[in-house]
Amino acid sequence: MARIEGTLGVGLVGTGWVAASHLRAIEANPHTRLRHICGRQEARARDKLTRFGADVSGVAFTRRYEDLLEAPDVDIIVIATPNHLHAEQAVAAAAAKKHILLEKPTGIDVRELVRIRDAVRRARVRTIVSFVLHYNPFVRFAHWLRESGWLGTIRYARFQYLSRVLDGYPGWSWVKRADSGRSHLLAAGCHAVDALRWCSGLEPTEVSAFHTRFTKGYQWPTSIVLNVKLGRKAIGQVVSSTDFMMPYTFGVELMGDKASMVDGLLFWKDTPLSLVALRRANPFPDVALHEATALDGSPAIRIECDMPASADARHHPFQGEIDELVDCIREGRESHLNVFDAQKTMEVCLAADRSAARDGRPVRLPLIRS
Ligand SMILES: NC(=O)c1ccc[n+]([C@@H]2O[C@H](COP(=O)([O-])OP(=O)(O)OC[C@H]3O[C@@H](n4cnc5c(N)ncnc54)[C@H](OP(=O)(O)O)[C@@H]3O)[C@@H](O)[C@H]2O)c1
Repeated sequence: MARIEGTLGVGLVGTGWVAASHLRAIEANPHTRLRHICGRQEARARDKLTRFGADVSGVAFTRRYEDLLEAPDVDIIVIATPNHLHAEQAVAAAAAKKHILLEKPTGIDVRELVRIRDAVRRARVRTIVSFVLHYNPFVRFAHWLRESGWLGTIRYARFQYLSRVLDGYPGWSWVKRADSGRSHLLAAGCHAVDALRWCSGLEPTEVSAFHTRFTKGYQWPTSIVLNVKLGRKAIGQVVSSTDFMMPYTFGVELMGDKASMVDGLLFWKDTPLSLVALRRANPFPDVALHEATALDGSPAIRIECDMPASADARHHPFQGEIDELVDCIREGRESHLNVFDAQKTMEVCLAADRSAARDGRPVRLPLIRS
């Protein structure tokens, strides 16, 4: 698809908690303007968006999603509805030649993933999937550290999404249900699976998982642990749970043959990491590096930056996400977080849920042959 000049019109479907954060990012981008919002009930939609911090006064409202698809002044559709509606809406948006910001999970089963892939491939529109942690300074630093070789060859990676989600969550009515929320991985832990792939640079080739349930109110198991084979030789784990008595925690661990990163600390064994050299190489002004000590007293490096420490969508770095999508549309290039890449994350989640349902029997990846 060719480059686009001028302002890009945005249509939003799904008018809740996360949508308001998308709208603030859209408002702050100099090349986008919100044109239409689509919801089920106007007063409730406007009230919710305003309550979560978005200004939608003067923006047209419709109950018909088709109005967004048919609107000539809409170039991008933001899909922020409950999980089971994403695929249908994304396929229709692509068919209407609209670029797409798609909330996770992209699809909730293999059939939906294939439909999204085929529709976007056919339409050749730009897409970005809301694995927003790619724009968090700490997760982005972890990705850079591994990619630029500071950790060496990755041997093990563990990512954890631990968050108590109860009926205080605005989306509680649909997330707890199997038909619309679907599973802990699809509703939440897919962020950890995605970060494992992105930060380690390795694709899971096989997964074995176990799940259990403690927290009441959900129609699906509330904790799942995945063991994955990563690439040819490495291994990894993901833990995704709402059951643990602790604040929201997004755990990041990457162990290479040179050094290891365990949350905010860097460790080594044989060859010391040079703090001076790492500071010089660090391309991120919002990441500071400090001398530290490990529990046994040996030297370490502490990473100081905005950590992925909140489950609140109002604190998520959606600006980076919308800015990347807009740049890609304007410059006629693919985003790094498109539906094709996200499909691989979703396949791991679906394979893990399948394995857990069969008491840990390993499931090979990919589920979908290209
Ligand atoms: N990337 C992230 O970090 C992140 C963070 C949070 C959420 N999310 C994702 O964002 C999506 C929305 O979650 P949320 O937390 O914003 O939930 P939410 O507050 O419940 O918002 C969902 C919105 O969708 C609307 N909706 C429900 N059924 C609909 C239908 N049949 N047709 C049209 N609209 C419908 C709801 O409208 P009513 O007001 O009429 O009920 C509500 O406004 C989910 O897929 C979730 O996984 C992502």
